[in-house]
Amino acid sequence: MLILAIESSCDETACAVVRMSSDERTILSNVVASQVETHALYGGVVPEIASRAHIEAISPCVERAISDAGVSLSDIDAVGVTYSPGLIGCLLVGVNYAKSLAFSLGVPLVPVDHIRSHTAAAYFTSAELEAPFLSLVVSGGHTSLYSVPTPAEYEEIGSTRDDAAGEAFDKVGRVMGLTYPGGAAMDALAREGFEARNTGKRQKSERIRFPSPAINDDTFDYSFSGLKTAAVNHIHNLRQKMNIPDKGMIPHDEMAEIACAFTEAVVEGICKKLELAIDETSCERLVLAGGVAANSHLREGIQALCDKKGVKLYMPPLSLCGDNGAMVGAQAYYEYMDGVRGTTDLNAYASGEGAEAAKAVFRI
Ligand code: KG4
Ligand code: ZN
Repeated sequence: MLILAIESSCDETACAVVRMSSDERTILSNVVASQVETHALYGGVVPEIASRAHIEAISPCVERAISDAGVSLSDIDAVGVTYSPGLIGCLLVGVNYAKSLAFSLGVPLVPVDHIRSHTAAAYFTSAELEAPFLSLVVSGGHTSLYSVPTPAEYEEIGSTRDDAAGEAFDKVGRVMGLTYPGGAAMDALAREGFEARNTGKRQKSERIRFPSPAINDDTFDYSFSGLKTAAVNHIHNLRQKMNIPDKGMIPHDEMAEIACAFTEAVVEGICKKLELAIDETSCERLVLAGGVAANSHLREGIQALCDKKGVKLYMPPLSLCGDNGAMVGAQAYYEYMDGVRGTTDLNAYASGEGAEAAKAVFRI
């Protein structure tokens, strides 16, 4: 079936057309209108500006997705849309647009959870990816581990108790003076830091060690706030010691070592809990998804863990790690097959718990 899917939960307006069936997973078009440059001026996403930008971008985005796919609106069999979690004003733009489109076309509307969609991006990596599997979603707003017995059933078995990993990457990047969002720049800096360690340019005694985000108990939970604060304090102390004014740039090799030590703590901490979960659940397949799944060090670390454990790892390509419409289309297909339908009173919900409490999803 041909699904048109809309995503507007944060700072990307996205629309895709995907063709999905029991033996096909094809992206026909995938258009993303990013607002990153606008929000970079403010050092983070400004919700009101984001909602207004979605209003402006959504129609052109949908038109472009239809024309790139080489189809017409009358070919569309269902409309999928992110309805939770996210910034409420942003979600409302996508939900209202999708609702109007679906009902004017006379096709089903399928509400989709944003975190499930991140996982669903992995379906495009391989035709053989089938539930059951574990999914680790690491993004700007979430760091959660799910057991996925069927494509439309998600049970959270672990999560962060405070900040998300992406939030911590962005905060440390911002304090160092990197442009928002700092995740990708931190990735590149960390590579330089690891290189300096490996070539002996940075002595063992000069290496930083930050606290682990893995909570020291037998849950699969994380805490990134201690790690974030330790890195931020380290940067402030370094500025004081080196007589660098607030917000002044610190030497490049120090930035590389900070990014490296921060990334090392993130990757080791995430892998520690993941290993526990793999052992306890005896899972055979793992999906790594979300914006931070684009991190090259995290990809390498989790690949090494999966190789050691004999677990097959599925990671979306970098182009499908950040927010996009294709991932919404893939999850919409499985929700549709499970009988999920949106009605004319479908609302948007800032949190997944809110959506659940409101029993927002209707099943036929
Ligand atoms: O999934 P996403 O696009 O949006 C949310 O649903 O939150 O994730 C965005 C997050 C940002 O925090 C961004 O800095 C981070 O993903 N990110 C990265 C990398 N690329 C994007 N973090 C670390 N390393 C990267 N290469
Ligand atoms: Zn996202």
